[in-house]
Amino acid sequence: MAVIRVRNNGEIIEGQENVHAFLEEQGVFFERWDTAKLPEHLVEKFDLSDTDKAEILKVYDQDIRSLAKRRGYVNWDVIALSDQTPNIEELLKKFEQVHTHTDDEVRIITAGHGIFIVKGDGETGYFNIELEAGDVISVPEHTPHFFTLMDDRQVVAVRLFIDTDGWVAHPYEEKEHQI
Ligand SMILES: [Fe+2]
Repeated sequence: MAVIRVRNNGEIIEGQENVHAFLEEQGVFFERWDTAKLPEHLVEKFDLSDTDKAEILKVYDQDIRSLAKRRGYVNWDVIALSDQTPNIEELLKKFEQVHTHTDDEVRIITAGHGIFIVKGDGETGYFNIELEAGDVISVPEHTPHFFTLMDDRQVVAVRLFIDTDGWVAHPYEEKEHQI
C-alpha cells in the first residue's frame, strides 16, 4: 500500500483510508489491484523478456481493459527498470527532472517499488507517493512531477496511454528549495 511523505514538513500519511483521502484531495487517482494474480516466476523478476511482458499484460488484462474503459486509455505496455537496465543512470537522470504532460500519467506497479514526486496544492507543496506492487496511480495532466526508484532500485509497471503525444515530457522550471 502506498505511503505519502510531504516533503516540506516530513509528514507521513499511511493506511488505506488516509492515503485515499489525501490523494483524492490532491486530484490524484489511486486504487489497489490484486497482486496475487502474478505468477510466482514474475514476482521478483525485473529483467523481462517480451514473453514475460506479454504474460503480465495477460494476467491483468481484465483490470487493464476496465481501467482503460473508465478513463479513456487506448494503448498499454510494460516497463521494467533495474540495475540490469542499459543506461539506467541516464534514464533516472531524465526521469528525475520536474516535468508535466498534457495527458495524465498512469502506472500500475506489478513488482518492486517506485516514487512519484508530485506538486500538490499551495500549502502542501511537493509530496512523495511511495508505491509498491498493487498500487495504481495516475498523476493528473499538467501537474508538475517526477519519478525515481526506491532503495531496492527495481520496478515493473504497466503504463497506459490516451495518446503517445500526450505523454511527451515538458520540462517545468521549479526552484530547487521548493522541490
Ligand atoms: Fe511524467
